[in-house]
Amino acid sequence: MRVAVFSTKPYDRKFLGAANAAGDHELVFLEPRLTAQTARLAEGSAAVCAFVNDDLGDEVLERLAEVGVRVVALRAAGFNNVDVAAARRLGLTVVRVPEYSPHAVAEHTVGLILALNRKIHRAYNRVREHNFALTGLLGFDLHGRTVGIVGTGRIGVCVAQIMTAFGCRVLASDPQRSDAAIAAGAEYVPLEHLLAESDIVTLHCPLTADTRHLIDADRVKLLREGMMLINTGRGSLVDTRAVIDGLKSGRIGYLGLDVYEEETDLFFEDLSDRVLGDDDFARLTTFPNVLVTGHQAFFTSDGLHSIAATTIANLTAVAHSGPDAVTGPARVC
Ligand code: NAI
Repeated sequence: MRVAVFSTKPYDRKFLGAANAAGDHELVFLEPRLTAQTARLAEGSAAVCAFVNDDLGDEVLERLAEVGVRVVALRAAGFNNVDVAAARRLGLTVVRVPEYSPHAVAEHTVGLILALNRKIHRAYNRVREHNFALTGLLGFDLHGRTVGIVGTGRIGVCVAQIMTAFGCRVLASDPQRSDAAIAAGAEYVPLEHLLAESDIVTLHCPLTADTRHLIDADRVKLLREGMMLINTGRGSLVDTRAVIDGLKSGRIGYLGLDVYEEETDLFFEDLSDRVLGDDDFARLTTFPNVLVTGHQAFFTSDGLHSIAATTIANLTAVAHSGPDAVTGPARVC
């Protein structure tokens, strides 16, 4: 099948190319992000392969269908960027990678927790300037602290397992209880209770209409004074302005983000020679107790290998046996 691969980076060529070594598909690597303006680049391809910040809204899907695309293969787990109703209406098959390496995201989450707590980002800069003073670098023992996990799916369970190994008490909130999370020591409580009790809150639920701005101004008021908030889920799970206010008041004592509400125009690109137009993001980078990474939690060799293998397997299944060959969580619609 001819596949237009949007938002291509060198690592996509490498891992998708290796997964397609048998040559089952003709991969057309395109650097632009998929938008209404770039959709026509897919002309002649039966499928597009898209990533998290590609636009798969109504208009783009219509344009893709017009140029003959039948399949959208997401090389990602989250599909909040897809207008599923429009895809159904247009008869497009949308497939994704529901599970690649939950460990990659969970480990990055814990990396943010450790770095923020022990101020490793600040210590790194100090030592490079031969400033060996410890003032301002005071951390706390994770052992005995309470960690609240919102969303105990694949990634949330891994985080629960790691944090209980640190000796933390783990609280969880999820409409669907997970036996694996309970086995890891998690205790299910209502969200409001979790927010009020936790020293660290970490978000691992998908972005949906229900979870958009899950952490808003009202919920910031429920948080423990000086707590740590981590978001490696999706940017819009938190209301950025409410969180900035929470940082200014001191209620949020630490903020770790791998995702950002308005990341589409920022992340995955080198913008170091441009003027930053996003004032909220600029404000976030001024806080000493904020650590932002640019959507890299998934970015391990194991993760990329697995994403590429599943993406190619999804495309092969659809090419050989039709859309119904992909079932279960890998099939969005
Ligand atoms: P999953 O589907 O295994 O688990 C999601 C869990 O969230 C489910 O147990 C579901 O019941 C729960 N949930 C749904 N609504 C909820 C709510 N209102 N409150 C609490 N829990 C709720 O998904 P997985 O693989 O654990 O991934 C979670 C999210 O992480 C993805 O949806 C994606 O947005 C994000 N992600 C981020 C990556 C990164 O690089 N930063 C990479 C991969 C995923």
